[in-house]
Amino acid sequence: MIFREIGNSGIRASVLALGTWAIGGDAAWGKQDDDISIRAIHAALEKGINLVDTAPAYGLGHSERVVGKAIRGKRDRVILSTKCGLVWGDNEGSQFLVRDGAVIRRNLSKKAILAGAEESLRNLGTDYIDIFITHWQSAPPFITPISETMEALLQLKKEGKIRAIGVANATCEQVEEYLRCGDVALVQQKYSMLDRNVEEGLLPLCEEKGITLQAYSPLEQGLLTGRIGRDYVLPEGDIRSKTRWYQPQHRNRILSMLEGWEPLCKKYHCNLSNLVVAWTAAQGQKINVLVGSRKAEHVLENFRGGEVTLEREDVLRMRGEIENLG
Ligand SMILES: NC(=O)c1ccc[n+]([C@@H]2O[C@H](COP(=O)([O-])OP(=O)(O)OC[C@H]3O[C@@H](n4cnc5c(N)ncnc54)[C@H](OP(=O)(O)O)[C@@H]3O)[C@@H](O)[C@H]2O)c1
Repeated sequence: MIFREIGNSGIRASVLALGTWAIGGDAAWGKQDDDISIRAIHAALEKGINLVDTAPAYGLGHSERVVGKAIRGKRDRVILSTKCGLVWGDNEGSQFLVRDGAVIRRNLSKKAILAGAEESLRNLGTDYIDIFITHWQSAPPFITPISETMEALLQLKKEGKIRAIGVANATCEQVEEYLRCGDVALVQQKYSMLDRNVEEGLLPLCEEKGITLQAYSPLEQGLLTGRIGRDYVLPEGDIRSKTRWYQPQHRNRILSMLEGWEPLCKKYHCNLSNLVVAWTAAQGQKINVLVGSRKAEHVLENFRGGEVTLEREDVLRMRGEIENLG
């Protein structure tokens, strides 16, 4: 497993991290058996994946509780990241979405962050969080200045309840504002071969500032594993059905591209998902790749992606083909 430092925090994490959104078992991904989830988390730790990402919003606390149960007795072997700023249960904040009957709101006020940290610590059964990430940034009508959000995060850091600060789903301007108020170790953002928006601004900014860019949904929620075939019909209501790349005509072109990479898989002794993870990790010195898996068998297939280093000419050749997709 390749390890990289998270920002300048001194935290060394596996370049491949485990995402536990689907483990929350909410309506976005459907019900999930907790024992299967726990086996997936244990498989990750056994294979050297030490960074596990969760959030209170994943299943309204359920993902955090399952992660907490899985890491009991193993806390010192795990780098835990969780999030703050999406709340439910009262009316303070800007409405974000309604899921499983709960109105989830954006609220990055100092009060909400301090209360959220305590709740996450309880859910996870730990007395510290390694990386605490603001999940979605403030939006009207309930706006919190980043200076207030940062005041809460810096207080938690001073108290030893969190080790490093992360920011998710932010613009360059917002990250720069966070940096004016304190230190940021990680920016978590959507980044895959098929969605390279971060390359326009956030990735160069992170590189300049020594911040880790953590790429979420690098497998485009399963599409880039090559396993979602041409004839696969997504279940009714599946969130992926709205994504452009899942439409049959685009899916066909992507699958053809992936099939053309089989010789590369042979060269690197890996499968397509591993190749995609390794390509994503190769886009910067401090990139971390966050893959979601609910099943141990997927983790056991995926960990190799965190071991492979691609040669520069293969990285460039793959980029050429990706850019040709349009
Ligand atoms: N900050 C944010 O707003 C935000 C947003 C989205 C995601 N995230 C984080 O990033 C993580 C990853 O993103 P993601 O879950 O959206 O997408 P992803 O990692 O691109 O894809 C996850 C999907 O790929 C499937 N998969 C994984 N390995 C596979 C394999 N070897 N063979 C076949 N299928 C495989 C998973 O199936 P199984 O689940 O069945 O194993 C799951 O359906 C999340 O879990 C979450 O922690 C953060």
